[in-house]
Amino acid sequence: MSLEVEIERILPGGYGLAHAEGNTIFVSLAAPGDRLRVRVERQQGNVLFASIEEVLTPSPDRIEPPCPYFGRCGGCDFQQLTYEKQLAAKAEIIRDCLQRIARIEKLPEIFVTPSPRDWRYRMRAMWQIDEDQRTIGYYERGSRRVCDVVDCAVLVPELQQTLERVRAAKWHEFPPGLKHLDVVSGDNGVSLGPAFAEFETVELSLAIGDERYSYNAEAFFQINTGLLPSLMEFALRDVSGEMALDLYCGVGLFTLPLSRRFKQVIGVESNPIATRFARRNLQQAQLENARVINAGVADWIKSSAARSAKVDFVLLDPPRAGAESAVIKQIIDFRAPRICYVSCDPATLARDLRKLSAGGYVIESLSAFDLFPQTHHVETVVRLHLG
Ligand SMILES: C[S@@+](CC[C@H](N)C(=O)[O-])C[C@H]1O[C@@H](n2cnc3c(N)ncnc32)[C@H](O)[C@@H]1O
Repeated sequence: MSLEVEIERILPGGYGLAHAEGNTIFVSLAAPGDRLRVRVERQQGNVLFASIEEVLTPSPDRIEPPCPYFGRCGGCDFQQLTYEKQLAAKAEIIRDCLQRIARIEKLPEIFVTPSPRDWRYRMRAMWQIDEDQRTIGYYERGSRRVCDVVDCAVLVPELQQTLERVRAAKWHEFPPGLKHLDVVSGDNGVSLGPAFAEFETVELSLAIGDERYSYNAEAFFQINTGLLPSLMEFALRDVSGEMALDLYCGVGLFTLPLSRRFKQVIGVESNPIATRFARRNLQQAQLENARVINAGVADWIKSSAARSAKVDFVLLDPPRAGAESAVIKQIIDFRAPRICYVSCDPATLARDLRKLSAGGYVIESLSAFDLFPQTHHVETVVRLHLG
């Protein structure tokens, strides 16, 4: 079915919102103000999901996407917008989630700090591999077919060069049955996992602010480091005391600076490789007042040691799915005077904020950081205190 629509605004998930013939329509890769002919691809509940057949009248915010894979590759979905409008759309996505899902009435002004680089910023990636088709790149939009990518314009130059070297490898050199490669860069090179041929899962090191971190391709590391010093400064400004928790701590990005501000810190991380790096990063920084527990946060938080802890500050930085219900419940039970929630998904952040606000917490301040230019994703940091 084809429909003519006008895009009203950008929604969480990055879709353009339109209404036509009594339907609510979510349009991929749209710009607010576009007049479009769209093709309905599927229906979910009352919502029709559509793709653009023809741009009838382009929005003043629409630009020609510079990447030749845009539209087919599932990696970027905001290249049709000027960078300024990408930032405005992200602020609106956060506002929408906080009002609609978290039901927060009095919202602070939402400012999204731009990335120092809106292209060639990405220092971590996962490249999908299809051995049968001999393709390497990212999944195509809405599919598990691999879009064969020769040049990815958001990768930092070191990763782009690595992509070219991987693409030049002989197919028989790839580990049999390989489905994807994880790759990350650092001050001393590029780490790739799993290792094969000349490509190694080397240990990397990177300075962020006053701290230095070791990691490799098998542990989580933030993908855009340009904004991390200001993000960390906002998250940790004025916090200090006896005891802090760093939940979902990765290789210890926040654990190190927290250990300089609190007498005791506990980090919790489920990936054993990330846990090992976090412990080593603390050791190399000669910080002996923190320990890192290798466990799922929901499991650890049920333990009697966790429940009896007297906590002054909780920093949580969960994956996109947000924190498990049991985790939010126990955080509320800690009655820590302050919490900082770092999130890469405004919808799950809002779901969890609603519970925290029912548990007595109020938003003290909020800031957002554009760690993911050319996509609808955004990092939000919310500081809360007990009301
Ligand atoms: C968004 S990352 C944040 C890591 C770290 N705070 C940073 O900024 O580098 C989320 C981390 O949570 C870990 N993780 C995912 N699910 C978890 C769980 N249920 N329990 C503990 N850690 C988990 C992941 O391995 C990853 O390191």
